[in-house]
Amino acid sequence: MTDGVESIAETYHIQSPNTVSYGMGATDELASFVSERSIDRALVVTDADIVAAGATEPVLAALERGGADVTVFDGVKPEPKLSMAEDAAAVAGDGAFDLVVGVGGGSSMDTAKLASVLAVHDVPIREMVGMGNVPGGGLPLALLPTTAGTGSEVTHIGVFADEADGGNKVVVYSEHLFADLAIVDPALTESLPPGVAAATGMDALTHAIEAYVTVLRTPYTDGLARQAIELLGENLRAAVHQGPHNDRARYNTSFAATVAGQAFVNSGLGAVHALTYPLAVEYGLGHGLANAVLLPHVMAYNVPAEPERFAEIARLLGMERAPGETTLDVAYKSVDAVKALNEDIGIPNRIRELGEIDTAEFDAFADVCFEYSEHNIDRNPRAMSHDDVVGLFEDAY
Ligand SMILES: [Fe+2]
Repeated sequence: MTDGVESIAETYHIQSPNTVSYGMGATDELASFVSERSIDRALVVTDADIVAAGATEPVLAALERGGADVTVFDGVKPEPKLSMAEDAAAVAGDGAFDLVVGVGGGSSMDTAKLASVLAVHDVPIREMVGMGNVPGGGLPLALLPTTAGTGSEVTHIGVFADEADGGNKVVVYSEHLFADLAIVDPALTESLPPGVAAATGMDALTHAIEAYVTVLRTPYTDGLARQAIELLGENLRAAVHQGPHNDRARYNTSFAATVAGQAFVNSGLGAVHALTYPLAVEYGLGHGLANAVLLPHVMAYNVPAEPERFAEIARLLGMERAPGETTLDVAYKSVDAVKALNEDIGIPNRIRELGEIDTAEFDAFADVCFEYSEHNIDRNPRAMSHDDVVGLFEDAY
């Protein structure tokens, strides 16, 4: 099924980092990258929990083997603030580094992206917010995910909370944020706690499903999205429950998360990523968890707009067509498949189970979705009004 563009005369574009290396132990490639480029000093941008879990050790070893002196900035925290990027940039900008290496989840990799640019360009960080406002390329950048989730290693996007604006999220999009080298080494996900593996894996599944049905999909993104959906459906349960003991499951979920990232960076996302926004900002819910809970509800809303596509998602997630079932019947089975997956990996299917959430705020939530994430609503396959968004929050409650 490759009907992703309106006509064969339509031109579409493929955006990606320079090189993406996949493989168990692929972190070793950092050594040759460093020696070939004669890199003397590398700054590793990461999070103290990732260092404590030991996930940075093979990265530091490869950098040193390649001949680089390494400094570690471990001040990144989940759902990072702009000030963390400024702190990392202050270290990166001391003039002596010739490589920035982001190691971690989306938070560490996004922080590394901005630090690499700010080390070279002396501009106020808030001037870079939005589309195409980064003045130029930064220090060479390598990104290594330690989760199988955000796909940040292959995107040109940085997402931050702006503490000067009540914690609202700001997004920096720029071709200058693409990595010179992304290394997807499933060995780095070995110490991932099950709850983090579940939430980040569902973020990846949300990327793949939204990329597959968005109005901006292309034949290129269709192939990536379909592969990611199938691999996550087959492997995410095992990756969560058998993490350190199941290399194959972690290999497949890591690969799926990255190709889902390559899909959505070229297709955009949809309404799940808009509706997640107020839950994350108002209640501090993690991005992956909020996506996971909202995903089946938004899918059910979208099914009537794209029944063939949702029937294909159901098939990719292992649901079969029973005799007499229509395409629409099968399409709704994709919703059941995602709910079952959430349940199996310990994620609720109702936002009321995430904590004290005030239903009287749903109207204000909808305002926030349109104010900060209207581009994601615009790319959703089924049109959505303010009242539709309120209705979706009520359905998901
Ligand atoms: Fe996401």
